[in-house]
Amino acid sequence: MIRLRVPGDKSVSQRALILAGLADGASRLDGVLAGADPRSTAAAVAALGASVPDLPADGSEIRIGGAGLRGWSSPGGPLDLGNSGTGARLLLGALAGCDLTAVVTGDASLRSRPMKRITDPLGVMGARFEYEASDGRLPVRVAGGALRAVDLDLPVASAQVKSALLLAGLTGGVPVQLTEPGVSRDHTERMFDALGARIIRHVRGEGVRVEMRDPPDRIPPLDLRVPGDPSSATFLLLAALLGLTDGVEITDVGLNPTRTGGFDLFDRMGARMSREVESEQGGEPIGTVRALPTDLRAIQVGASDVVRAIDELPAVAIAAVRAEGVTTIRGAEELRHKETDRISALVDNLRAVGVACEEHPDGLEVEGTDAPLSGVVDPRHDHRIAMVFGVLAADPRNEIRVTGRDCVEVSFPGFWATLAEVVS
Ligand code: S3P
Repeated sequence: MIRLRVPGDKSVSQRALILAGLADGASRLDGVLAGADPRSTAAAVAALGASVPDLPADGSEIRIGGAGLRGWSSPGGPLDLGNSGTGARLLLGALAGCDLTAVVTGDASLRSRPMKRITDPLGVMGARFEYEASDGRLPVRVAGGALRAVDLDLPVASAQVKSALLLAGLTGGVPVQLTEPGVSRDHTERMFDALGARIIRHVRGEGVRVEMRDPPDRIPPLDLRVPGDPSSATFLLLAALLGLTDGVEITDVGLNPTRTGGFDLFDRMGARMSREVESEQGGEPIGTVRALPTDLRAIQVGASDVVRAIDELPAVAIAAVRAEGVTTIRGAEELRHKETDRISALVDNLRAVGVACEEHPDGLEVEGTDAPLSGVVDPRHDHRIAMVFGVLAADPRNEIRVTGRDCVEVSFPGFWATLAEVVS
């Protein structure tokens, strides 16, 4: 059994960087992910007026000098969020309530991703956006300023949309109430609560109503230790489930229940896995998760499973390759709007290595097989696609080559070395 930790949580790191940049005074953050996405967000927060150091590769403590909720000012040039959808979308929300103008842009992948899901509801609050090249795609110019309170029914369950609205309410000083059709990750709500921006949540059927009735005039500095990223842990757990090592134990990992839907799906496949919450830090449950080699069985994944497992569905699809039977993932059209279209990237690459699968508009079917697999995988610059196929490629029975491996830097710097250590 190999025991290890994974780099800091990408979602928590990005939120912490933005909120620290908006706080009054010096925040102390430990364990911030030094991946390409948080680096892009950190650079943008610095360009807006906060003092942000380089993110240390080992996740050691950093101090961020916040500019205050009304302290951000127009940056000298475009804010380039690189590959980071979370960074771009959350910042668009925070900027909407600030008295400034800014252009938000990103790399080719981010410039192809839908932004109206953010700018339309922010527009209802009174925020002004101008798309500079193509409607609904970055770059977009935001002219922030006076906002009004909203009460919105969101058409998709998206933590990015929800968080953008809450951040706009925070910087704009207006109440925000919203209903989401599913329960997306709730890191923003937990952090807001910890900072005195009280959030009320009511579960409504499959969804949730989130209310910030009384935004504060200022937020205090953060003192936060970022947990290990459960999404990054998933790749190494997958390696253990597939029998590429005799077992993996990952400590100090975030176990927020809005993030553990992928582990639940592995459980349904019969996985020999266990997890224990050991502490709570900054409102986030943290603990240990273990996985052992398992003869997996196929499962049916439906719409109600998707939100809590959205980033883990590629790993479930790879687990399905070695499971007995045909695994179906449906109700997951959101996968088409990630760093790449993950449904088509999974199907095309699975077929390229010899796995029988079928594509649906909202998901895919994967037929389990014991056969050795071979072929070349093109992850299309998507970190999670590269890592799940990287795990499949690490099986000595397969002859799979993953191209463009550097894209893992977005969320898991050092992934290839860690994987090699796990499977050696
Ligand atoms: C994230 C939310 C999810 C997830 C992404 C990170 C976040 O996206 O896929 O990797 O940090 O808020 P959506 O909110 O668009 O589903």
